Amino acid sequence: MTALTIDRINKRYGNLHILKDISVSIAQGEFVSLLGPSGCGKTTTLRCIAGFERPDSGRILFGERDVTRALPEHRDIGMVFQSYALFPHMTVAENLSFGLEVRKVVPAERKRRITEVLSMVRLQGYEARFPRELSGGQQQRVALARALVIEPSVLLLDEPLANLDATLRDEMRFFIRDLQQRVGITSIYVTHDQSEAIVMSDKIVVMNSGVISQFGTPRDIYERPASQTVAGFIGRSNTIVGKVSEALGPDSYKIETLCGTIGTHGPGGLVNGTDVRVMIRPENIRTRRHGEAANTSTSDENVLGGSVVSATYQGNGTQLKVRLASGDEMVVDVSGRNPMAVGEEVALRFAPRDAWLLAS
Ligand SMILES: Nc1ncnc2c1ncn2[C@@H]1O[C@H](COP(=O)(O)OP(=O)(O)O)[C@@H](O)[C@H]1O
Ligand SMILES: [Mg+2]
Repeated sequence: MTALTIDRINKRYGNLHILKDISVSIAQGEFVSLLGPSGCGKTTTLRCIAGFERPDSGRILFGERDVTRALPEHRDIGMVFQSYALFPHMTVAENLSFGLEVRKVVPAERKRRITEVLSMVRLQGYEARFPRELSGGQQQRVALARALVIEPSVLLLDEPLANLDATLRDEMRFFIRDLQQRVGITSIYVTHDQSEAIVMSDKIVVMNSGVISQFGTPRDIYERPASQTVAGFIGRSNTIVGKVSEALGPDSYKIETLCGTIGTHGPGGLVNGTDVRVMIRPENIRTRRHGEAANTSTSDENVLGGSVVSATYQGNGTQLKVRLASGDEMVVDVSGRNPMAVGEEVALRFAPRDAWLLAS
């Protein structure tokens, strides 16, 4: 069932066209992240969903209900902000009670829900504390509880972890995701942090300059990015330019490059002669020293020769930069205690399934 439909919304501030035909459809219970660089329109999109902004055109539906013109208080949303936005002069219980009182929930039921939601965020017994008596992480959990206590149909979160230190942020990612799954609430999460989006989301909307670059699962986005922009924004990647020389199947191709022919997979329907880029993630490349036997190589494996131009120790491995015959530089992650040295000749090996085509 579709919980939320964003249908071709546009938003302008003066001459600036901020959101350009944004369309997304979100299923009941899904956790969807809006991911993109600062200023790309994530918060504006979320504010349109919440009702704090009205799009110039397009529609927003909660289930079947068109809420495009509804006030925020009539949309059945819970919202969590980066700044927590707790009422400083109210206790935790009063902060949680506020939205329930506005909704005319009777006292006994208010008490029951507050107790329940505080136990969900593991803050039982904190009812009488004031926000200033809580750590940043605890305040963020109160903000989460306050959004959930009204039992909204959609939970909206705008960079809720950005003010927390790295360790706490990591913990809170799992905490929020776990809580969201237990409650089963449809959630939209704004972040500019790609690893946060990847570990938390069912689906990711990658945004750039007010348009959606790609909408898909974390795996789709990481392994089958729709463009160079997406590939560059999510994780590290190497690209080699080339032309389609042969279609081997519905999604597998041979690509002619300056380093020779490379077996790849890619979107269907590419015709011979199409300009493309072959993308290979650093962790999917294996290395072999010059002259070392190719004992584990398979017949369709790609092998490119090059020489090491830098080797950077990274604790959990070494990052090599390897210059190919074409002049392209490839970044390669290698583990083990005997990495290559600068100047060594090396063969880079990767499977066709790990080489993905991007439109050039
Ligand atoms: N009220 C406003 N008036 C004018 N410009 C705005 C307003 N709100 C946001 N913007 C502009 O819209 C663009 C997108 O902003 P925003 O949605 O906050 O981006 P993000 O959340 O992705 O960082 C930015 O260029 C921002 O400066
Ligand atoms: Mg923002």
